[in-house]
Amino acid sequence: MTDETKALMLTPADGPALAAVAETIAAAVGRREALGLTGPLTASGYREHVDRLLEQAALGDAGLGAVIDAHGNVLGTAQWTRSPYRTRRVLAEIDRVCVAPPARGLGVGRMLVQLVAGDAADHGVEVLGLEVRGNNHGAIALYEHCGFRSTGLIPNAVAEDQDRYDVVLMHRELPRPAGVRLVGSEPIGIGASAPRTLPG
Ligand SMILES: CC(C)(COP(=O)(O)OP(=O)(O)OC[C@H]1O[C@@H](n2cnc3c(N)ncnc32)[C@H](O)[C@@H]1OP(=O)(O)O)[C@@H](O)C(=O)NCCC(=O)NCCS
Repeated sequence: MTDETKALMLTPADGPALAAVAETIAAAVGRREALGLTGPLTASGYREHVDRLLEQAALGDAGLGAVIDAHGNVLGTAQWTRSPYRTRRVLAEIDRVCVAPPARGLGVGRMLVQLVAGDAADHGVEVLGLEVRGNNHGAIALYEHCGFRSTGLIPNAVAEDQDRYDVVLMHRELPRPAGVRLVGSEPIGIGASAPRTLPG
């Protein structure tokens, strides 16, 4: 990696980079890496997903990032998408974090996570969540390195052939605007309810 390596959010104008992102993801799925996708997946097939994501990005509800070297090669990619629940508009998910194998271990994954987290924050996201397969210890280490904390897991919910793996849930807080009240799980505010009390 050189000083000319760039981390940037992509737009429909970035045709060659978008094609390379699709190649990167299709190749990773071909290696059966843990991206939540199953093969066979062609780059052109994944490009349709990219185009839909960019439509969401134009509305401010998603973003597609890439790290690109001095020669224009895409070294890795990541995306964020806002929760579809309107009461959870401050929540987004980061996924499809993927670095090309020759570029791993050089800080590209960290650059991608920080890029995408920054773009989500710029669009009003206050909490970034993610799901990672329990056996993907390298990815979990990356997310911890980038400030994510585990908040739970769904046991043995990923199926690959006859094997079942945990889904580890992680999140990272982003800056919140002034005046926000953090109620958490207190039984107050909109939607609150009290548990029944039994007589006697
Ligand atoms: C997970 C992945 C994105 C990491 O990308 P990367 O560019 O190699 O990660 P970085 O070099 O930026 O690592 C930054 C930090 O994360 C941690 N980290 C990343 N990979 C790690 C690993 N395999 N083991 C231990 N720590 C790791 C380290 O703290 C590292 O800092 P250090 O190098 O100073 O020790 C990459 O291995 C990948 O694309 N894997 C396949 C796809 C995948 O599983 N994606 C995650 C889906 S949830």
